[in-house]
Amino acid sequence: MIEEKKIDEKRQGEILSIRSKSKTIATKKMYLESYGCAMNFSDSEIVASILQDEGYSTTKEIENADIVLINTCSIREKAEQTVRRRLKSFLKIKRKKPELTIGILGCMAERLKTKFLEQEKIVDLVVGPDAYRELPKLIKELEDGRKAVNVILSTEETYADVIPVRLGNNKVTAFISIMRGCDNMCSFCVVPFTRGRERSRDPLSIVNEIQNVYENGYKEVTLLGQNVDSYLWNNGLSKKEINKLPLQNQKNNINFAKLLEFSAKKCPNIRIRFSTSHPQDMGDDVLYTMAKYKNICKYIHLPVQSGSSRILKLMNRGYSRDWYIDRIDAIKRIIPNCGISMDIITGFCSETDFDHNQTLSLMNYVKYDFGYMFKYSERPNTLAQRKYKDDVDEKIKSKRLTEIITLQQKHSLHNNKKHVGSIKEVLVEGYSKKSKDFLYGRTTQNTVAVFPKEDIKIGDLVNIKINDCTSATLLGNKY
Ligand code: SAH
Ligand code: SF4
Ligand code: F3S
Repeated sequence: MIEEKKIDEKRQGEILSIRSKSKTIATKKMYLESYGCAMNFSDSEIVASILQDEGYSTTKEIENADIVLINTCSIREKAEQTVRRRLKSFLKIKRKKPELTIGILGCMAERLKTKFLEQEKIVDLVVGPDAYRELPKLIKELEDGRKAVNVILSTEETYADVIPVRLGNNKVTAFISIMRGCDNMCSFCVVPFTRGRERSRDPLSIVNEIQNVYENGYKEVTLLGQNVDSYLWNNGLSKKEINKLPLQNQKNNINFAKLLEFSAKKCPNIRIRFSTSHPQDMGDDVLYTMAKYKNICKYIHLPVQSGSSRILKLMNRGYSRDWYIDRIDAIKRIIPNCGISMDIITGFCSETDFDHNQTLSLMNYVKYDFGYMFKYSERPNTLAQRKYKDDVDEKIKSKRLTEIITLQQKHSLHNNKKHVGSIKEVLVEGYSKKSKDFLYGRTTQNTVAVFPKEDIKIGDLVNIKINDCTSATLLGNKY
């Protein structure tokens, strides 16, 4: 547990004084579009903040923008194709307004670097995830007529002092990055190459940000990292340096369980979620902390990727099927009724019917509440691309994916049906997509519930009596 007295008041003062920096008057407009994971959406809010200080305000109308920034994702080939298609659609606008600056941010910027400028002539600016502080300087370079690129990865940058400009559609839930990068090197994954080494952010700046969003009316935060269970802080030292410290100095380490507890205690009136947990690193301490604090949501996204130990080994995931099952058992034991979701990749190199059936049988064991399921997409320069053959036929990948999705829908419906007749506390996030007479929100387990508006307001925490459900949604009425 982090004692409050351990908080260095001088540093707290410094962080607060950065936060109260006076605002520049906005004269120019930026249009930001984000693809990929929550981390990218959170980064766009950092970018908006950095450029706000340079006199840019955000616009939702691309035609009104002076600069268009696309925050891109490289995780699968399809994600990159989407961005390229989007860029083509800008050609018309650029023809009408040649002075419009088009910038590429995020993981594709990092992966392709200057190649992007050769491949996509429409692009003026390429900036990687650790170089956003350089944006004002790079934009000035552009004004001198040069295309600008900065894709240098950092081992320290966490943007801890930047107060994000919240770009989300609701004023109820906010993302907060607690760490950046990833050291895991899963053989299929491009992230370690696009986001660099793992580094954790100062816990004090994290808690300050949670308090700040709460004071601005938000009701829930999601703490973000590629592997939150690997979060580790000790006076700004790197993980390597921390591991070399004598044991008595390591007592001051703040790991993820401690960060969660610190956040839950300091900000008891805000709901706290986090993503993503890693089966290799998720310890019982995190589970006990979740069970102890009501404001920590009872939901864990625990990607499995495959149910076959042989495939998990090739994927370099660092755990076996049995280990994963042990972690699931621990969740069910320590936090009964915890929502659990997963990611699965189907058709990884050399995957056989036997391996695929192992994945299906693991799903039958866990009975996930929901999941994100993908066909394996080979990524350049990853270990899998260099070492293994992408040899599962596309048709077989599709067939296996369909089987997995169908089974998941069955489990989601089965789990949702168990809630029918019960009363669930729901945080209201917005209007239902189908009708303005209905609102939607999430339970602590992260299941979406839809209900008639009546006198309920967005941001309310309401009790909903669940009357019915689909595989994706609970349906009910205010209780
Ligand atoms: N850090 C998270 C995952 C981030 S990427 C974790 O380790 O769990 C989100 C998901 O995209 C992954 O969990 C995986 O299921 C999927 N993914 C990553 N690389 C992929 C690839 N090359 N092909 C298909 N899916 C991939
Ligand atoms: Fe990629 Fe693995 Fe890191 Fe997740 S843990 S970001 S899948 S390398
Ligand atoms: Fe995509 Fe980069 Fe996130 S590759 S999933 S945007 S870390």
